[in-house]
Amino acid sequence: MNRKVTKAIFPVAGLGTRFLPATKSIPKEIMTLVDRPLIQYAIDEARAAGIKEFIFVTSRGKGALEDYFDHAHELENTLRKAGKDDLLELVRQTNMESGAIAYIRQHKAMGLGHAVWCARRLIHNEPFAVVLTDDVVMGEPPCLQQMIEAHAETGGSMVATMEVPMEKTKSYGVLDVAEDMGAIVRARGMVEKPKENPPSNLAVIGRYILAPTVMENLNKLKQGAGGEIQLTDAIADEIHEGRDVYGLRFRGQRYDCGSKAGFLQATVAFGLARDDLKDEFAEYLHDVMAMRKAAE
Ligand code: UTP
Repeated sequence: MNRKVTKAIFPVAGLGTRFLPATKSIPKEIMTLVDRPLIQYAIDEARAAGIKEFIFVTSRGKGALEDYFDHAHELENTLRKAGKDDLLELVRQTNMESGAIAYIRQHKAMGLGHAVWCARRLIHNEPFAVVLTDDVVMGEPPCLQQMIEAHAETGGSMVATMEVPMEKTKSYGVLDVAEDMGAIVRARGMVEKPKENPPSNLAVIGRYILAPTVMENLNKLKQGAGGEIQLTDAIADEIHEGRDVYGLRFRGQRYDCGSKAGFLQATVAFGLARDDLKDEFAEYLHDVMAMRKAAE
């Protein structure tokens, strides 16, 4: 039986330059899809997967993110007195148990691998999850839960993967596949943003379950693609040292909310998935498209 995964690292220390000027004062993770901040989607997914300890790697200017998880006693009292039980319940669902969240600071944005390494003292000899809040995955069961179930069978390290067109591979970490078992593949290599000759079209998205030895690999603080300390390189080192790394073709749709187009697509998808909005919103979208067509 492989060890249970109960800790997740959420690296949220990036600069979010693609969303300037908004990210001048708002952390990207607080931006909302319909009415919930991106971070809430990530937390809900992790909770559903059985995560008990939530480790945020933050940076300057991310105060609003830390405040978001404080209990809002005044607001809760007001809602209770006003008899707004449904809203009260909604707010309560966002409350986190005292001591369940830890914040670690990354003093300089030196890359995703470096951000994960900043949490090394909170990870002991146990597998841990890494969740990138930019990647929002619509899926049932949620993506991380699918991974944790698969990882309980395989052990080693596991990344979430999806097929992308070959010409898009240069934007992702890409797997070199040793063995394809259907939903799960075993990797013989992993390359970050290959400029040419991608080893496959299986791209890695922002969900990982990592063996503790990945932290040891990060200790080398080796600079990789773009001069950053890459998590991909530390995972690839696992393979070079003879340990297993798997990719899971998760079931679901991933939205790249770190990009403007991806964020807009996610807004449409999550809006249409909401019972209280879908009819009005679908009608609006239909009318917009019809007007565009007529104007062409
Ligand atoms: P991105 O590559 O999307 O970078 O990081 P970014 O800074 O957030 O956004 P842009 O490209 O400037 O618009 C992927 C994830 O890794 C985290 C980010 O917060 C994001 O969740 N990250 C990245 C860190 O925590 N630290 C880093 O040094 C780099």
